[in-house]
This record gives sequence, structure tokens and C-alpha cells, in this order.
Amino acid sequence: MTMKNLYLIKYILCFLVLLIPSIKASEYVLVPDSYLDVQTGKLVKGNIYIKDKKIIAISNEKKLLDKKKNIIYLDGLVLVPGLMDAHVHLIGNNELNGYQSIGESSQMATIYGVKNARNTLQAGFTTVRNVGAGHFADVALRDAINKGVIDGPTMLVSGPTLSITGGHGDNNLLPFHNHGSSEKHSIVDNPWDARKAVRVNRKYGANLIKFTATGGVMSKNTDPNARQFTLDEMIAIADEAHSHGMKVAAHAHGLKGIQAAIKAGVDSIEHASFINKGAISEAIKNGTYLSMDIYVSDYILGEGAKKGILEESLEKERKVGKIQRENFKLANSMGAKMVFGTDAGIYDHGDNARQFKYMVNWGMTPLQAIQAATINTADLFGQKNIGEIKVGYDADIIGVKTNPIKNIATLENVIFVMKEGKIYKK
Ligand code: ARG
Repeated sequence: MTMKNLYLIKYILCFLVLLIPSIKASEYVLVPDSYLDVQTGKLVKGNIYIKDKKIIAISNEKKLLDKKKNIIYLDGLVLVPGLMDAHVHLIGNNELNGYQSIGESSQMATIYGVKNARNTLQAGFTTVRNVGAGHFADVALRDAINKGVIDGPTMLVSGPTLSITGGHGDNNLLPFHNHGSSEKHSIVDNPWDARKAVRVNRKYGANLIKFTATGGVMSKNTDPNARQFTLDEMIAIADEAHSHGMKVAAHAHGLKGIQAAIKAGVDSIEHASFINKGAISEAIKNGTYLSMDIYVSDYILGEGAKKGILEESLEKERKVGKIQRENFKLANSMGAKMVFGTDAGIYDHGDNARQFKYMVNWGMTPLQAIQAATINTADLFGQKNIGEIKVGYDADIIGVKTNPIKNIATLENVIFVMKEGKIYKK
């Protein structure tokens, strides 16, 4: 047989294997140009051996490439650990904003979640933290993905967001006589109800707790600068969650809310827009991660009016976006622990990686931005076996066309996706 024929057969075999969507986990050898060591930022040559869900070996030894294994040639690709996003909202149709959103049933929102989960995985995000969803629809989505019913990233979910009455996590769109909040258990106004809400969320399947420590941009009639929940309430939430081994994510734009949440011992501050030097130092001292969504502002201010985002929200965003970016730069220069969190769901799921460019433009090295979405997220999530291409780790691996250290935007164009040893995109 000629070399050419051999190549042709190899090509057809690869093609046949890859035609089947989400192939069953089995044995693979990935043969890329190189892979990125996210600890050092160096490209490494090596073929990656995968069995079931795990990376079992990495070797340059040609003899090891025995014919019985599925050899996946990834010529021209650089492999990177599967990306992670610490702040997404997969449930719901993200085109529905403001008053349009109240007509969406939970069932329809969940069906959109199926589509959003697939788009997120196809974009190279193999693990996400879903921070806030009604009716525990996020629990159902996570479980459907874990059972292999649908394709999506590994999800860590919070269930309904804990909020004060009239807070960022309450529904403030309707007048008093029409207000029918169905998430009554998670709208709480004292420490004991807050503890109970944590217990209810855990009972119905949440992995972590999300609460709103200040007002927000997208909610009606809340002030991003105003603290929501007292320190006592925040301490109750964090203590109760931690006693069950659950992490706590606090939405906080304003300084007072950020300071109280750090003091209460939360694991991450989401947004952190008006953080200052003192609070950054406190976060560093306490080991609190900052999850700063610095791309979304451009989307809100660029597309928001067209997409039905309330004028009130646009007005708030004009005051939040720029200072958040400046504080992102400050926090990073001071050595704060930073994770990649985007708030995808305001914009289209699958566009998450757009934020990498912004992180680099606002002071991170490309390696720091990649670490924020790999080893740092793994640490925040309490997951020991993800975030690196390393023997013993889960086979969550993506492929891009160029070295992302040289060109961070290449992460917006992911060519190959493997999650837990299964191929989802090639
Ligand atoms: N979910 C957040 C809120 O409504 C989005 C904030 C978006 N703006 C920003 N600059 N990160 O408050």
C-alpha cells in the first residue's frame, strides 16, 4: 500500500469516528503540534493518552502509538486545558430583557438552557459555575448533562439567588398587587431565614450559594452602590454554606457590600466594580477571589437598548463599566486572586471567550488571563483534577490554531473540544 493510501485510510477512519456526535468515552491518543503548560506558559511537545475520563500518560515515544488505539491527529493545533467560567446564567432566553422576561415560563427557560449549554461547551468551556437560576432549573440541566442526556459543560450550580426583599435577586418589575414571587424561600430578611434558604437550596441540589450583597445593574429599582443584607445576615449565609462544604459567591458592586462580604468570609466577590485598595488588600488577606466581568459592559451599552434592557439599567452601566475595568487593573497589579467570570447570559452563550482580550488590555499577561480561566477557577471551585493538561487529570482539553500566549483572541475560535475523554467538536 502506498503512503498516500495509508493517509487516506487514516483520514477516512478519523472522519468516521468523528462523525458520531459525542463519541463514547474510551481510549484515545491526541497527537497535537504541542500543548500549553498553564503553570509556565511554555508550549510542550507530547502525545496525550486518554482512558475513560482521564489523562493517563503524556509521551513523545512514537512506539507507544500502537494501532489499536484511536489516534486523533490534531495537526496545527495547540492544546489548552478546557476553559472555565465562574459566572454564567445558562437558564433562559438571553434575548428577553426587562419586562419581556416575565412572560417566560420556567419550562421554556430550561429548554433554552439546553441550547445555551451546548453552545458553551462548543466554545471550549468545559466547566462553568451557574450563579442564580429560578426553580432549580440549573440542577436539572446539570443532572441531564451528567447523565449524558444532553451535551454541555460540567456545571456547578447555585439554585435560586438569596436576596433581600426588593434586592437585586428579587423580582422588582411588578407592582405590589401583582407581585407573585415564586422563589419565596430565597428572599430573606434575617439571619435565620437566610440559613434556612441555604438549607433549602442544598436540599434541592445546589452545589454552592449565591447571594446579592449590593444592588445591581440589570435589576429594577436597586442601587449598585447600596449594600444589601447586613453583615450578620452575610455571616449566617457564609457560615451555613461552609458548614455543608458549599462555596459562597457574593454579587457585589458597591464598596460597603464588598467589604462586608469579604469580612463574612465569602469565597468570591462577583463584579467587584467599586472595590478600592483597602478592600483589595482585605480580599488578598482572606484569600477571596475576584470574579470581574469586564467585557459585558460593552455589550450592554452597545446592544442593550436594542435588546430591551431597561433605560434605568443602561444608566447604571454607564457609571459601573469603566471604573470596574480600572479596578480590575488595580486588583491584578496588587496581586489579587482573580478568576474568569463573564455573566454570559446577558450576551450570547458561547461568546464567553471575548473577555480574554479585555483582561489582557486591562493589565493581565495572556498567561494570567488563561490561568484565571483554568487553575484559578479550579481552585475556587474546589476541583483538584481539572485546569491542567497533566497525568491523572480529567481529559478536559481544547484545541486552538495558534499559541494563545502570542494571540489571546485565538481562544474565541476553538477548533477541538474534549470533555471527560469524550470528543464534542473537531
Ligand atoms: N448581573 C450584573 C448586574 O446586573 C451585571 C453587571 C454588568 N456590568 C458590569 N460592568 N459588569 O449587576
